[in-house]
Amino acid sequence: MLLKDKVALVTGAASGVGRAIALAMAREGASVVVADRNEMPGEDTVRLVQESGGNAAFVQLEVTEASRHVAVIERALELFGRLDIACNNAGISVGRSGKYNLLADSSIEDWHDIIDVNLHGVFYGMRAQLPVMVAAGSGCIINTASIMSQVAAERLGAYVASKHAVLGLTKSAALDYASSGVRINAVGPGYVDTPMLRFKSEGQRQELEARHPVNRLATPQEVAELVVWLASDKASFITGAYYPVDGGYLAQ
Ligand SMILES: NC(=O)c1ccc[n+]([C@@H]2O[C@H](COP(=O)([O-])OP(=O)(O)OC[C@H]3O[C@@H](n4cnc5c(N)ncnc54)[C@H](O)[C@@H]3O)[C@@H](O)[C@H]2O)c1
Repeated sequence: MLLKDKVALVTGAASGVGRAIALAMAREGASVVVADRNEMPGEDTVRLVQESGGNAAFVQLEVTEASRHVAVIERALELFGRLDIACNNAGISVGRSGKYNLLADSSIEDWHDIIDVNLHGVFYGMRAQLPVMVAAGSGCIINTASIMSQVAAERLGAYVASKHAVLGLTKSAALDYASSGVRINAVGPGYVDTPMLRFKSEGQRQELEARHPVNRLATPQEVAELVVWLASDKASFITGAYYPVDGGYLAQ
């Protein structure tokens, strides 16, 4: 077991990639704090972990509220006594309009929705998680970035900006805490088959598949396996790094 006796926090763990990360970490022996703003599907993740023999608890988290991150860490410590791993994974690709717009047609509200969750949420998360890890002299943070941390796509201005920023933030934080025993890395999935793609038509999905040299989307599990490995002691010399998991997307 790669994560035996570790305690892991996963944000956005009620769905998609986050749920797969929670399940994979539990399979590898971690106790998992399933954090999400959506309680019922979050409890479903806990149930799935428990049904597969793992240990997990749900804690409600709205990632755009800095104080909630602090409360979640306190709860994690109450529940499991320590925090070894944090995966800042919650993210959105569209704002309240539910539309992918050209930049000048994008509303200010949509811009703030996306930046608040994808960028501020990761900053607030690390800000709450790091003191516990620094005090312990060890820890590992993995931020879910994207291929859109390195390249762009049309009608995704705020999303691309947020994911580029998450990569810069990850590197900067890694330098700040490298000497404290805390490793901080980012993963960059290509398009993943999750509810995030619910706004896409069948034709658009096929077009997205064709953009990957492997001609398909990733499964959430394929992203989760990379995150588990980065979180494990096998990755002990890796910090400040960005790992794509993208079916060849960025090689083109
Ligand atoms: N699906 C893709 O194609 C893809 C590609 C690259 C990167 N990603 C990234 O992977 C991560 C997970 O995405 P996914 O595809 O699993 O999406 P998803 O929509 O299936 O799951 C996202 C989860 O985050 C939670 N969440 C959203 N906003 C939140 C908030 N303000 N506070 C708390 N929780 C919140 C949702 O409730 C949901 O459970 C995101 O950071 C996303 O940007 C996804």
